[in-house]
Amino acid sequence: MAQDFIAPSILSADFARLGEEVDQVLAAGADIVHFDVMDNHYVPNLTIGPLICEALRKHGVTAPIDVHLMVKPVDRIVPDFAAAGASYITFHPEASEHIDRTLQLIHNEGCKAGLVFNPATPLSHLDYVMDKVDMILLMSVNPGFGGQSFIPSALDKLREARARIDASGREIRLEIDGGVKADNIAEIKAAGADTFVSGSGIFGKGRAEDRNRYDTIIGEMRTALASVGR
Ligand code: DX5
Ligand code: ZN
Repeated sequence: MAQDFIAPSILSADFARLGEEVDQVLAAGADIVHFDVMDNHYVPNLTIGPLICEALRKHGVTAPIDVHLMVKPVDRIVPDFAAAGASYITFHPEASEHIDRTLQLIHNEGCKAGLVFNPATPLSHLDYVMDKVDMILLMSVNPGFGGQSFIPSALDKLREARARIDASGREIRLEIDGGVKADNIAEIKAAGADTFVSGSGIFGKGRAEDRNRYDTIIGEMRTALASVGR
């Protein structure tokens, strides 16, 4: 079974000090960097693009960067993120006219590929592409903003996705995104997730002048995760 990955979402970081923020969460034990790309079209918010991803690499970040595309169309921007140092690129099936082609494009660009499911998007989009996904990302909020509450029906959907992954026999990461905190992360793992995005649950904690503030919250998450076996 896959090792648990804690994936801080930099959407809630202090963008004026982004490199330092990413260094600090990684030093505190985070595994991958979750990078939310919003276009004010597919979702009603506008965030960051390939230049910022490249800047993090130039800053010295070597951890995997998990690019969550909330953009439409998808294909035009994929090579730019690959060149900027993305490790995973995930996209929403509603945002691509040709899901299979987009998954292949991401692989051809040398990245791992994944599909993202909004709360009301059925997992049947996976039916014919299980052999082409490296990650399944379930949204436990509607995409567009940090700081929303976890939608409980995501737990049943996680169980369904976990069953699909186990039946496939492939190594596919099962990631959850939205409203993940230290106090609900254990039940989310128990439902089948192995990759845990948390934005406000990590960056919203503690005082900025406290350089060790992320150690505490990521430590609490690790303890909660360790209480759940697989
Ligand atoms: C929402 C983004 C999330 C967001 C999660 O559209 O995809 O990654 O940063 O934020 P929290 O953890 O605060 O719900
Ligand atoms: Zn995200």
